[in-house]
Amino acid sequence: MAPEFTPLPTYKKFATLPPNLDPAKLPRHVAVIMDGNGRWARQRGLPRVMGHRQGTETLKDLLRCCKDWGIPALTVYAFSTENWQRPKEEVNFLLLLFENVLGQELAELMRQDVRLQFIGNLVDLPASLAEQIQRSMTLTQNNRGVTFTVATNYGGRQEIVQACQRIAMEVQCGHFSVDEITAELLERYLYTRGLPDPDLLIRTSGEMRVSNFLLWQLAYTEIYVTPTLWPDFDREEFYRALLAYQQRERRFGKI
Ligand code: FPP
Repeated sequence: MAPEFTPLPTYKKFATLPPNLDPAKLPRHVAVIMDGNGRWARQRGLPRVMGHRQGTETLKDLLRCCKDWGIPALTVYAFSTENWQRPKEEVNFLLLLFENVLGQELAELMRQDVRLQFIGNLVDLPASLAEQIQRSMTLTQNNRGVTFTVATNYGGRQEIVQACQRIAMEVQCGHFSVDEITAELLERYLYTRGLPDPDLLIRTSGEMRVSNFLLWQLAYTEIYVTPTLWPDFDREEFYRALLAYQQRERRFGKI
């Protein structure tokens, strides 16, 4: 009997870099605002949290894809400082989801040589999640594959305010003077210290805003917005985003 036809999973269809993408012009750092989980679930008559669950699968494949295609840094917005205002059940679900996924995926992250970082105000997270985050960051800190940064309880304005406070304290202590404060110095006090600024920001579900994400770091980032809801953002969609990116002319303020 002839074997049944089963369509290839998306990740097999795009297992390697699509030929019309130029490997020399790939972004070094991609940032993503993963939006539309709730709408994805609602369209299917499911509870919102099922959108977050499916969105996690999307994220796992995007991370694998960055490794497969040679993109060294991926940063995602998982939980903003404003997200605490969502219904308590949804907040609890998300925080528990992060903790469970971390526990389940740690071995795989090691296998893929992923260096995991969390950025944001981590001290206000539940203790068990904060411990899991610390454990995962310590275990993966020497990995040299993709640097995967998860913004959790993160706000761009709060990040900049905190950097200013710490710099002011250094000045007060006499470690340096006011005129030594430069953009380069300020960057050393941001959570993203050591990472290049994102070359490409992807936002799903059609919203045209940056929502307090990486406000400093996005100064010259190319922005790509797609109407696709996050759980449906597959490798083909990523390919479209990278194609659009490679067609942009980046001038960084010059002519
Ligand atoms: C925005 O969609 C999505 C979030 C606030 C959560 C994103 C989190 C994940 C995809 C899970 C990531 C997992 C790990 C381990 C980092 P929304 O709920 O605002 O959607 P809506 O705009 O349609 O309501």
